[in-house]
Order: sequence, then C-alpha cells, then structure tokens
Amino acid sequence: MTEAALLSEYRAPRPGELETAGRLLSESFIFPRTWGAGITASSEPETLRVLVENGEMNAAAMVHPWRQYFGGQPIASSGPGALAVAPEARGKGVATRLLRHILDEGRAAGVPLSVLYPASRQLYAKAGYAPGGWRISRLFDPAKIGMRKPELPVRRMTEADHAAVRALHDRAARLTNGWLGRPEYRWKSLLGSGDELRAGWIVEQQGEAVGYAVTSVVLRGEKRLLQVEDQAALNPAAAKSLLSFIGGQAFQAHGLLWHGGSFEIIDALLPENAHKIEIDRWLEWCLRIADVPAALEARGYPESLDTELHLDVADDWYPENCGRFLVTIRGGKADVKRGGEGRVRIDVRALATLYASHRAPSEVMMTGALCGPPCDIEQLGFAFRGPASGMADMF
Ligand SMILES: CC(C)(COP(=O)(O)OP(=O)(O)OC[C@H]1O[C@@H](n2cnc3c(N)ncnc32)[C@H](O)[C@@H]1OP(=O)(O)O)[C@@H](O)C(=O)NCCC(=O)NCCS
Repeated sequence: MTEAALLSEYRAPRPGELETAGRLLSESFIFPRTWGAGITASSEPETLRVLVENGEMNAAAMVHPWRQYFGGQPIASSGPGALAVAPEARGKGVATRLLRHILDEGRAAGVPLSVLYPASRQLYAKAGYAPGGWRISRLFDPAKIGMRKPELPVRRMTEADHAAVRALHDRAARLTNGWLGRPEYRWKSLLGSGDELRAGWIVEQQGEAVGYAVTSVVLRGEKRLLQVEDQAALNPAAAKSLLSFIGGQAFQAHGLLWHGGSFEIIDALLPENAHKIEIDRWLEWCLRIADVPAALEARGYPESLDTELHLDVADDWYPENCGRFLVTIRGGKADVKRGGEGRVRIDVRALATLYASHRAPSEVMMTGALCGPPCDIEQLGFAFRGPASGMADMF
C-alpha cells in the first residue's frame, strides 16, 4: 500500500470507538480486556489518540500533556504512553506514522519537547528520540536507614496540603533536570484518597511545609514493600527528617522502593551501607526535540555563562529544525537566531541527550552524532551541564 493510497485519520477516538481502542491497548500489552477498558473509561479520555487508516483503527496511544523541567524552567512536553499497534497491522510503519502525528500535533500547539519510555530504542530513534535520563528504582532494606527520630515534625498530609505539595514539587523540580510537571488528573490520582494502600506525609519547619512524601504498599508474592512514589525536600533537615520517618515507617517491610534519577538524596544520606542498595529496575527514558529553536529558548542556562553556540543541526523529519542556528546565552537565557558559523555539527538526537543534561559532550561524541572544534564542544558542555536528569514518574 502506498502512502498516497492511505486514507489516514489521526484524532481522539469517538465515543463509539472507545471499546475498540480499549481492546487494542489490552491486546498489545497482554492484559485482560478490563485493563484497556479502564484506560478508555478513565477521567483522561482527552489524552487518547487513535490512528484510523482506510477505516481500520490501526493504533492507539495516550499523549500526556506534561511539562518537563530543564535548567529550572518547566517546558511543554508531549508524553506518548501505552503506544499500541493492532497485531495484524504491525511491521508496516504504523507506529512510526502515529509518532509523526503526535509530534506534528505538539508542534502545532507550541509544544517543543516530547518524552517517553521506549520499549524499543530503534523504533523511537527513527522518530528522532534519544536517551534523555534515568528512572532508577532502588530497593533496599529499611533497617539500613536506622531508627532515628526525625529532626523536624512529620504529619499526615490532608487535602488542605495539596496546594503546598504542588508548590514544593515545583520548587524542587526547578533545582534538577527531567522532573515532570503534572497535569491536574495526574496529581488527582497521586494525591487522591481512592487508594487505601497509599498515604501522604508532610515535613514542617516553623509551621511551613518544607518536604513531603507519598508512600504506598507494593505486594510482591509473600513480600510487602513500602514504595516512595513521590517526594521532595527543600533543605537538608527536611530530607533527613523524611528519610528517618520513612525508615521508621518501613521497619516491618521487606524492602523500601525509591524511584528517581542517578542521584537521589537517599544515596547521600544513608549511613555506610549505600552499597547494599539493589537496582530493582533501570529504565532510560527518551527525549525528542520537536522544535529546536523554541526548545533552546525555553530552557534555562547557568546564570554566569556568557557564550555563543554555532550549531548546524540535522533532523530527518523536520526541515525547520535543520541548518545553522546562532544561540546566544546570557543571564541564564538563550536567544536563538538562524545563521552563525555552524561550527558544531549535531544530530537532533544528540542535541536531545545534551539538552537533557543526560550525558556530557565527550560521551555523545563517541556516537558520531556530534563533532566540532574542542573550544565549541567545551562551551556546549558548560551550557547543558548537570544536574544529571532523572524522573520518578512512570507512564
Ligand atoms: C512496538 C510496536 C508499537 C511497533 O509497531 P509497528 O507499527 O510494527 O512499528 P513500525 O512498523 O513503525 O516499526 C518501526 C521500527 O521500529 C522497530 N520495531 C518495530 N517493532 C519492534 C519490536 N517489536 N521490537 C523491536 N523493534 C521494533 C524496527 O526498527 C522498525 O523499523 P524497520 O521496519 O525499519 O526495521 C508494536 O509492535 C506494538 O504495538 N507492540 C506491543 C505494545 C508495545 O510494546 N508498545 C510500545 C510501548 S513503548
């Protein structure tokens, strides 16, 4: 079948199509039908997209309207998840076409980034995605934290705390790279009272919330694990208090699960037994720069840096992203103009990995997707230097 012969519709599913979309999701992820039906019936139907080709629903996905923090700024980032192609339609470029629609839709709405968890790196590399950061799930014996009394008071979170929790999350997210800014429905499911295995905790200092954690119970066969689903602390006393509190709470658990990037505060605060942490799961998420100039201008940069980057970008999908850009960085911001000398030749995938502060230029150069004079490469490193990106969210 040629592209020209294909009658293709990319859109939100119509009410009469939700059952088919649910079945497609369940079959693709090998879950009972109720799983897909749960997604399509959930409170977030506006995130669902389907690809109908010649009258057949060939693919479905959720596209979350995230923001993602880089250089202290929350930037709009579309988040494809549960991407599913009908079994009988696979191997014909359907997923690739769906990704193209998702990115086109984002670009048209002014969304410069896209982030996802890849099942196959090849599929997403074809669409311009590249490694952007880690989600590392640490598993360790809570007894290793010790039964220390929290320095600051910790109390149960109530609904009245939710606005403060979001503000804390935003402040903490601005200090690192890669954290997701969540839409309303995501906060609701995280902080809502619907799950009896979940609880929220607030650390206070002089009557102000300075840290929080959302914990839940994970049952794995005979084992009961306490999971830290989300947390943030604004200062060392808040971080230590949260950790001591969680350690005490998890004392009877078979393990404590903690998700996040390559550096998490527990790594620094555990006494001498950090080497006892097991890696339960190790996922590398991928980032796509859908709109190069908009993404470069939206990000924050080191305040003291005053430099120019002369980029020559290659992108197989978007000619608007290709060619020379002069990026002037001053006062923590970038101004991007067409032109410059194009001294740094860089593929859009390599740019995503650098942009995320996931890897250093010297590491990215080893892939062959970045080259340029040593001084220019050094400036690139200064512009996108850490903290190394990570996220706790899974989607
Ligand atoms: C993975 C999936 C979405 C691919 O859909 P598809 O329409 O067959 O993919 P495409 O035809 O667009 O393939 C594009 C590229 O992805 C890669 N790819 C596709 N399916 C793959 C698989 N199962 N494993 C590894 N790589 C794969 C190939 O490199 C392919 O390029 P090529 O044809 O030039 O070799 C589909 O098999 C599916 O729905 N699987 C079950 C659900 C799932 O795993 N979703 C992914 C969640 S992140």
